[in-house]
Amino acid sequence: MSHHEPKEKHDHKILKFPEGFLWGSATSAYQVEGNNTNSDWEDFKSAGAACDQYNLYESDFDLIKQLNHNAHRLSIEWSRIEPREGEFDTSEINHYIKLLKYLKSLNIKVMLTLWHFSLPKWLAQKGGFENGKSPYYFERFVKRIAPELFEYVDFWITLNEPEVYVYEAYIKKEWPPAKISFWGKIKVYLNLTSAHKKVYKFLHSNYPHKPVGIANNIQSFEPYHKHSLIEQLAVIFYDVGANHLFYLLTKGTHDFLGINYYFHVRFKDGKSILPHIAEVSEKSRDASDLGWEIYPEGLYDVLADISDHMPIYITECGIASTNDDRRNRFLITYLHEVYRAIQSGVNVKGFFYWSLIDNFEWHRGFDPRFGLVEVDYTNQERHIRPSALVYTDIIQHNGIPHSLLRFIGHTVQASEVLEKRLKEELKEIK
Ligand code: BGC
Repeated sequence: MSHHEPKEKHDHKILKFPEGFLWGSATSAYQVEGNNTNSDWEDFKSAGAACDQYNLYESDFDLIKQLNHNAHRLSIEWSRIEPREGEFDTSEINHYIKLLKYLKSLNIKVMLTLWHFSLPKWLAQKGGFENGKSPYYFERFVKRIAPELFEYVDFWITLNEPEVYVYEAYIKKEWPPAKISFWGKIKVYLNLTSAHKKVYKFLHSNYPHKPVGIANNIQSFEPYHKHSLIEQLAVIFYDVGANHLFYLLTKGTHDFLGINYYFHVRFKDGKSILPHIAEVSEKSRDASDLGWEIYPEGLYDVLADISDHMPIYITECGIASTNDDRRNRFLITYLHEVYRAIQSGVNVKGFFYWSLIDNFEWHRGFDPRFGLVEVDYTNQERHIRPSALVYTDIIQHNGIPHSLLRFIGHTVQASEVLEKRLKEELKEIK
């Protein structure tokens, strides 16, 4: 054997993901577009110009391509398309046609969310999803828009995180309409289930080859003490209520499960009759800038828990951090758990990092930085973060190269080393 045989470019071992795995990132219209003056958020806490993606979508989508993503999740803004009840704005519809056409021209698989929290003002004035006719309004909107857009869509997401919406808008009062009403929130929840079912039926029967689902916030619940019955009961109660109930009420109307994973909750018995939620400090864990615990193992748990042989797409998973080393470790460790889940038989078919670019984080404004790409809000410039290149490295290998696994469990300053290597590799792609 000759000693001069060319060495393979990537001769190290790789934790391979299934062929055809979708690698992408996610955004939502109100959080990135800017100037959504007909949305209920405008009078509550306006995103103003946000990231101006309404105008800058071409260069943002070019970034997606440059970073080697093969899929993208985004939403359309109902309040733009139907600014007044029953009146549809064709120029806005044409805008979305142009935008989605552009994304498809880059050969990107498109996952389109039809409702991501923001409501047209006219509907908000009628009580939003508390209104008994809201499922019908939503269906009317989808029936108008879907025939225009379906050509450019590969997956439909009807609703984003119904439980989170009910919790933030009707329990925590942090989102509009910021209203506490016991029956109100139940009505909203039930109307969301029926909105989903109606729209599922329409989309599924008219576009049978385009899978339909929801993006659901799925949390990892655990007892602090394994022997504590009360903690175990709390786990069952919350797991069923927050993770499974919507699926149970809408059984048979999901072609896949869309999972947004952010939270790990440990119930701790002690101070009062009911167990409380343990603080991150009690768990001695690293946290994001929002104080959300970094707990990759929970992603494995929820995937195993929710799996019923349906295809699963992780429709959101991400970290708010101005420390990009944290995001590097986040990506590597969370994707490692996705790999483990796939190895143990869970049918995960795609991963969408939240988010492509920094954006308007609802009531928290612009401080949290979730982006693979940094946004300078003073001039709308985009700056690719090193972690975006780590993600690209993984995408290009369709798996996690062993060289990245050494970053698991370490708080090393990974960025500089990785940035240098990956920038070189990226040059080759361009
Ligand atoms: C939502 C996004 C949000 C992200 C981070 C998800 O619950 O779908 O709109 O920005 O979490 O908080």
